[in-house]
Amino acid sequence: MLSLTSISLLLSTMATAQQLTSYCNVTGGNGDNNPAPDGKYTIWSEGIRVSFVPYGASISNLFINDSRGIERDVVYGFDEAWMYTTGQHGYWGAVPGRYANRIVNSTFTIDGVPSHIIPNENNSTDTLHGGPDGWSYRNFSVVAHTDSSITFSMTDPAGDQGFPGEVVAFITYTAAPYEWRERMVAIPTTEKTPIMLSSHVYWNLDGYANDQTDTALNHTLYMPYAGMRTNVTTTQVPTGTLDTNWADGPFDFWTQPRQVGYAFDQPELNRSCGPTCLGYNVCFLTQRQEAEKEAWEQTGAQVATLRSAWSGIQLDVFTDQDALQIYSCNNQNGSVPLKATQGTPTNSMLQHWGCVVIEVEDWIAGINYPEWKREEEQIFGPGTQPYVLEATYRFSINQTAVDD
Ligand SMILES: *[C@@H]1O[C@H](CO)[C@@H](O)[C@H](O)[C@H]1NC(C)=O
Ligand SMILES: *[C@@H]1O[C@H](CO)[C@@H](O)[C@H](O)[C@H]1NC(C)=O
Ligand SMILES: *[C@@H]1O[C@H](CO)[C@@H](O)[C@H](O)[C@H]1NC(C)=O
Ligand SMILES: *[C@@H]1O[C@H](CO)[C@@H](O)[C@H](O)[C@H]1NC(C)=O
Ligand SMILES: *[C@@H]1O[C@H](CO)[C@@H](O)[C@H](O)[C@H]1NC(C)=O
Ligand SMILES: *[C@@H]1O[C@H](CO)[C@@H](O)[C@H](O)[C@H]1NC(C)=O
Ligand SMILES: *[C@@H]1O[C@H](CO)[C@@H](O)[C@H](O)[C@H]1NC(C)=O
Ligand SMILES: *[C@@H]1O[C@H](CO)[C@@H](O)[C@H](O)[C@H]1NC(C)=O
Ligand SMILES: *[C@@H]1O[C@H](CO)[C@@H](O)[C@H](O)[C@H]1NC(C)=O
Ligand SMILES: *[C@@H]1O[C@H](CO)[C@@H](O)[C@H](O)[C@H]1NC(C)=O
Ligand SMILES: *[C@@H]1O[C@H](CO)[C@@H](O)[C@H](O)[C@H]1NC(C)=O
Repeated sequence: MLSLTSISLLLSTMATAQQLTSYCNVTGGNGDNNPAPDGKYTIWSEGIRVSFVPYGASISNLFINDSRGIERDVVYGFDEAWMYTTGQHGYWGAVPGRYANRIVNSTFTIDGVPSHIIPNENNSTDTLHGGPDGWSYRNFSVVAHTDSSITFSMTDPAGDQGFPGEVVAFITYTAAPYEWRERMVAIPTTEKTPIMLSSHVYWNLDGYANDQTDTALNHTLYMPYAGMRTNVTTTQVPTGTLDTNWADGPFDFWTQPRQVGYAFDQPELNRSCGPTCLGYNVCFLTQRQEAEKEAWEQTGAQVATLRSAWSGIQLDVFTDQDALQIYSCNNQNGSVPLKATQGTPTNSMLQHWGCVVIEVEDWIAGINYPEWKREEEQIFGPGTQPYVLEATYRFSINQTAVDD
């Protein structure tokens, strides 16, 4: 485990030390860097309690009281930290990295120099979430932990999975009244490299405890800036073209809030997520004016709202990132267990369409399509600003939503 002393040492020896302290805000902690007996670390604030595990710097539990005053655990995860390393790997609540989503043909070129990343998908034709040993498979170190904040750190060695240069990462999670915030900072210390992180949380705002349905298809989703999406093949690899989300078509979550399942009978949606798949696995672009993006944290500036009438819980997502991957848990099939804090008398497993993943990130495969001009957002080096991702997840309760 990285101690605060070794962090100071790291800070004092790095060219970007000043950037690191100002961006990462590692101010120490209460010294309580030991986990609870279940291996988890917990932070809290008014109305919210959140737990994490070092594996993948993953969120494992997020408790919020619903409109009936019943505590709901609204993220998928496992009961104990050790289960993350031995159970089915699903990027459960983790930080995918060093490059989230897909790298086309498992290769990219920076300044004329090609890199080949270990493929791990579609018969070894592309790379998903940073490779077979991407960041969501790594044990991060806890470098600071207070009642309301935790910082994880990890050093990704040069050449790992085929990526150029070493990257030092700090993932800070904070609890504020009815809010969970994340701040991810990644600093390349030796070479230019692509960096794109995300947060892979499987949400079910009924706490996976809705006794009327095992799915999240009745959740309502609204993404007011999402008029476009990246086109992908049937194996989910970006093709380099962008598609319009026509009003009232199956990808229209921008003209008005809609239930996640509203278009499941539309032929254009059917099979768009794979040869035998029905649902969403789509990178929606978040197109804002520069001033709107700078004010990303302001009330009313949320890029996504997800709510459930059953629990009355609403989640508003605020972020400085320019895209949102929405995945409606099309590949889940009842093969992994819910936590003891979740489930119903008739269901204790994660079911098909049982959740909604909302991944804040940049335009997927931007390093493969230089014509998209995502270089400033996706390629970093010792001389550039560090990579920074910020997001706030704000919860509110609809007190009139109690359904009986
Ligand atoms: C850094 O931490 C201090 C003390 O907790 C806080 O007041 C300040 O707002 C933080 N800065 C940033 C950029 O998060
Ligand atoms: C839910 O409400 C109960 C009773 O008021 C309270 O003890 C608990 O802390 C609340 N849960 C959260 C996550 O705030
Ligand atoms: C990926 O490889 C295919 C087949 O060689 C090629 O046609 C395509 O242009 C490549 N895509 C990119 C983005 O490099
Ligand atoms: C996925 O794999 C299949 C079979 O190996 C191949 O034909 C196809 O081109 C691949 N798709 C992409 C986008 O790489
Ligand atoms: C995967 O690739 C191997 C080797 O190229 C080939 O023999 C096999 O048919 C491919 N499988 C699929 C499903 O395309
Ligand atoms: C991560 O930590 C777990 C124990 O919590 C251990 O079993 C596992 O081997 C570790 N994995 C790596 C890659 O160090
Ligand atoms: C749930 O969604 C289904 C399919 O979209 C719809 O037919 C049904 O009316 C919805 N139920 C509620 C309670 O909104
Ligand atoms: C989706 O397409 C498949 C194959 O064409 C078809 O069998 C299935 O009924 C369709 N599903 C819906 C919901 O339309
Ligand atoms: C991608 O674009 C092609 C060509 O326009 C289209 O046929 C296909 O349906 C698009 N894919 C998705 C998933 O929208
Ligand atoms: C369910 O999903 C898991 C993980 O993707 C897979 O290993 C398993 O084969 C699937 N089971 C069925 C019955 O499709
Ligand atoms: C609260 O829930 C009620 C009942 O489901 C619904 O009619 C109303 O629109 C909701 N209000 C908000 C602000 O979501």
